[in-house]
Amino acid sequence: MTVTPEEFRVAGHEMVDWIADFRLRLPDLPVRSQVAPGQVRAALEGPPPELPERFADVLADLDRVVVPGITQIQSPGYFAWFPSNASLASVLGDMASSGLGALGITWQSAPALTEVEEVVTDWLRELCGLAPQWRGAIHDSASSACFVAMLVARERASGMSGERGGLQAEPAPLVVYASPQAHSSVPKAVLLAGFGRDNLRLVDVDPATYAMDPEALRAAMARDAAAGRVPAAVVASVGTTGTTAVDPVAAVVEVAAEYGAWVHVDAAMAGSAMLLPECRHLFDGVDGADSLSWNPHKWLGTVLDTSLLYVRDVAHLTDVMSTNPSYLRSAVDGEVTQYKDWGIPLGRRFRALKLWFHLRLDGAEAIRARLRRDLDNAGWLAAQAGATPGWEVLAPVPLQTVCLRHVPERLRDPSGTVTDLEALDTHTLAWVERVNATGRVFLTAALLDGRWMARVSIGAEPTERIDVETLWALAQEAAQAAD
Ligand SMILES: Cc1ncc(COP(=O)(O)O)c(C=O)c1O
Repeated sequence: MTVTPEEFRVAGHEMVDWIADFRLRLPDLPVRSQVAPGQVRAALEGPPPELPERFADVLADLDRVVVPGITQIQSPGYFAWFPSNASLASVLGDMASSGLGALGITWQSAPALTEVEEVVTDWLRELCGLAPQWRGAIHDSASSACFVAMLVARERASGMSGERGGLQAEPAPLVVYASPQAHSSVPKAVLLAGFGRDNLRLVDVDPATYAMDPEALRAAMARDAAAGRVPAAVVASVGTTGTTAVDPVAAVVEVAAEYGAWVHVDAAMAGSAMLLPECRHLFDGVDGADSLSWNPHKWLGTVLDTSLLYVRDVAHLTDVMSTNPSYLRSAVDGEVTQYKDWGIPLGRRFRALKLWFHLRLDGAEAIRARLRRDLDNAGWLAAQAGATPGWEVLAPVPLQTVCLRHVPERLRDPSGTVTDLEALDTHTLAWVERVNATGRVFLTAALLDGRWMARVSIGAEPTERIDVETLWALAQEAAQAAD
């Protein structure tokens, strides 16, 4: 006998209580998971269950094994990678989605699945101040969204080569341009879409802002065109993973237009900032791009997986992605949106409910207030570090991520120049590890220009100024202790 609706009702109430209690005790849990490799597996291994177990036993294992086995991304002390908020409003939407068990393979298989997605992607387009012609769909990740954009860019630039011999029969190589600061998913998408590593150009960036230099882009495209290659696509990053650098989208769009190249804007993290009118200047020119992806499952806080891919002309997607097997046909085809033709998967979850619940239960106003709080906190931290001897803020802080380095006095010569870069790297890694080992906060060490830095990414939903103050105090203590 499987779980019945009545049993589900009882267990479900307990599950909801468990989730609420878990969220309340987050501040007391170590932020970085402290388990050793294989520990979780060893604690749960055994023969597969032949007979039903008690719900209480499963829940007990969740507490005993699973909770210590995750890094607490929802903790107020989480400052690593990028925020990946799971607002409780969107968790309710996720529950509704799973409970409904809808199957999104065509409009007919779940009309509401398609039309709620149309509604929420339109809401977000409006909240972001994007032009009305953009149409959006929900994907699993910005990586997949970029891959889809690269496939479509490839087909446009090659006059639908997939309908003939594919790239293998193309007379001239197609070239893609991106910043060396672009996320690793960008080169991955370019390679997977078949362009080849030799045809990916990493365009120079401004050494102070880490933003793509549009003149370097222009020169690279001109060189390729002169050599008989086809400039096919540019990926502009708004909010790079390392330092949240902002490629100049308007200038990129202008240069790309000279060659008819596709422009994909990867704003996985920064997209949420479009909800703030005062941040829209970071996206100047975006309405001239061809595709734009951003992740509500990051800073905005709609639980994973909720990534948006907007395109200005859906025909580019449907030309490449459409399928029409007989068993999926219905009388309304042609009148309705068929999201299967906008991306790779056929079957889709009802992910739109996560956004629908999130936006309806929290409201845009509260979300904007939270984003502004985080921007303020990042400004505060940058100001503290900038005013404290020995500390450096390594890149502009257009959003909520602050890149820091502490340089001990002993590593500087009288002119202030760092004398031993290897020792500086060792010091950086040592103090970051000390901070993380406290379990109270968690931040990321990352390479910038080949040297280690500390990346403090503010924006977990419960993180307040006091948590940033704690982080800053711990960082200073650790840097002194590691010196
Ligand atoms: C700028 C940028 N682009 C793309 C991605 C990939 O996002 P996803 O995990 O949704 O594939 C990330 C992830 O942090 C990112 O920072």
